[in-house]
Amino acid sequence: MRNLTQDTITQAVLGRLAQTPDPRLKEIMTSLVQHLHAFAREVRLTEDEWFKGIEFLTACGHKTDDKRQEFILLSDTLGLSMLTVAMNNDKPQGCTEATVFGPFHVENAPHYEHGEDVANGAPGEPCIVRGSVRGLEGEAVPGATIEVWQADADGNYDVQYEGQGEHRARGVLHAGPDGRFHFRTIRAEAYPIPHDGPVGDLLRATKRHPWRPAHLHFMITAPGYERLVTHVFRDGDPYLDSDAVFGVRQSLVADWKQQADGSYLLEFDFVLAPERPAGRRQGAAAAKAAA
Ligand code: BEZ
Ligand code: FE
Repeated sequence: MRNLTQDTITQAVLGRLAQTPDPRLKEIMTSLVQHLHAFAREVRLTEDEWFKGIEFLTACGHKTDDKRQEFILLSDTLGLSMLTVAMNNDKPQGCTEATVFGPFHVENAPHYEHGEDVANGAPGEPCIVRGSVRGLEGEAVPGATIEVWQADADGNYDVQYEGQGEHRARGVLHAGPDGRFHFRTIRAEAYPIPHDGPVGDLLRATKRHPWRPAHLHFMITAPGYERLVTHVFRDGDPYLDSDAVFGVRQSLVADWKQQADGSYLLEFDFVLAPERPAGRRQGAAAAKAAA
């Protein structure tokens, strides 16, 4: 295969993928090549621009380590993470909606009993969080595992502090026999996503801000139910309509009520989707292609 031109190269590359044994890999690579080539044609990509792109991706790689994932930030800020969440979480009506996972979840966070303070010394306004975990028929989900994590008043997660040995403002609880739970923590505050790397440069070049509206992360799991990865956002936050990672859903916005003693109270009830066979969880795009 010689003398390929701008008119013949796409087919040549696709032909080279024809023997890919894994059908899903073949589908993904074929589509990726088609869209990448179409993109380059549409913008008439110059060689300098192509090299800038290579430098940008290289910088993302250099910025990434076990604490910092610049490629996930890139995906988040391009809306790709939220698009993927939306396509793969078309839960039945009435279920709590999902949103982005984010890069700050850690495995093996400390366990807490109801009423304990998951802040563990993290700075912030005191806050009580109360709620329940139920199924679609309103049934309690006793023992559901509730993982919660959040930034502190300075906008940082514990893992962002150099040398911070202890977990702060994160923990694992279990719903009681009635599906209910409550714990103490600090009020969530808006914070900027890490923007001291190439993704931050891209945000500035496109006149975008890096802020996320105040939110508390939850991951809830229970046998017989789909895993729920979501946030609860704080009503009134100025960034609700311009979240840097496009994660806000109105159904996840709640009132964090100030109490007489100055502390805050958040009440939120979660509804889990029943576990479904893998094929039924596919997003709209995959379902359409399969039809
Ligand atoms: C977060 O909410 O923790 C988050 C999500 C996406 C990018 C950065 C942070
Ligand atoms: Fe967050």
